[in-house]
Amino acid sequence: MPSSISRSESLLQKVSKVRDIPTLSVVLGSVLKALREEGTPRHKIAELLKRDQILTARVLRMVNSGFYARSVEITDVKRALHFLGDHTVTALVLGTTAFNDLDHAPSSCFDVQKFWMHCLATALAAEFLALKMAHPNPEECFTCGLLHDLGKMALFRADKETLEEIVDKSRREQRSFLSAEQELGLPGHHVIGERLAQQWSLPLVVRKSIRYHHKDVRVFESIAPEHRKVVMMVSLADTMAKRAGLGFSGDDLVPAYNEDYLKDLRLAPVFMEELEERLPVETLRARELLMEKGLQKKAA
Ligand SMILES: [Fe+2]
Ligand SMILES: [Fe+2]
Repeated sequence: MPSSISRSESLLQKVSKVRDIPTLSVVLGSVLKALREEGTPRHKIAELLKRDQILTARVLRMVNSGFYARSVEITDVKRALHFLGDHTVTALVLGTTAFNDLDHAPSSCFDVQKFWMHCLATALAAEFLALKMAHPNPEECFTCGLLHDLGKMALFRADKETLEEIVDKSRREQRSFLSAEQELGLPGHHVIGERLAQQWSLPLVVRKSIRYHHKDVRVFESIAPEHRKVVMMVSLADTMAKRAGLGFSGDDLVPAYNEDYLKDLRLAPVFMEELEERLPVETLRARELLMEKGLQKKAA
């Protein structure tokens, strides 16, 4: 089908230009790199953050909010990092750069705020699963969950019409976002997202989570076992976010958990149900903590 091949190619070309957003390529890439390199001194991370006024403002506002009660006001980014921890800073960086500047570009059938909720809920669920499984790096699972659908965000930015066509098709035909993409002969948000993640030099485990969150990775020997586990957790977390009705991922389906994953990771269905019930409260709390509006309300 030459027409769909050329359409796919032109879409991938458009997405490759998403790198033009300065905060995304410079701040996101360098801060994440510094955060994941063990032993990076805090003053270096602070230096990077300070290059972005919005990020600096958010870090300071958050550390001085009611959530981190202390008597002395913190005005220095380096000290703020000490109190917030890498995990929260990562979420702030990603949330600010990858999602918030999309607020100004409304779409008729793709609500970015709701999409952000889906990503945040997935991130939290992935972290909870990681904690339950005593995974050595729950924060990494949070990041992977937050970015698993990066391809949809890239589509939103690069080609909103195509994104709306996919959402519309999935709604009309009650099919998944992925299957609508496939039916339309498009590359798929997992492929698009991975390309972008590579362009931004995001960590390998994040790239694998983006690429394979809709695949059965138990049989994929090319993926390192420790990464495979993270991808499985992210996939279950994605399902949980949808089942809990948190945000909008691009389709209206309510999927079932991959039972083989549950067995493999030794996660009891009853635990999943409990977590599913807890997730809405945790997500709203995290959203309030991460979003500027929530913090402004707190400060008022
Ligand atoms: Fe997805
Ligand atoms: Fe998702």
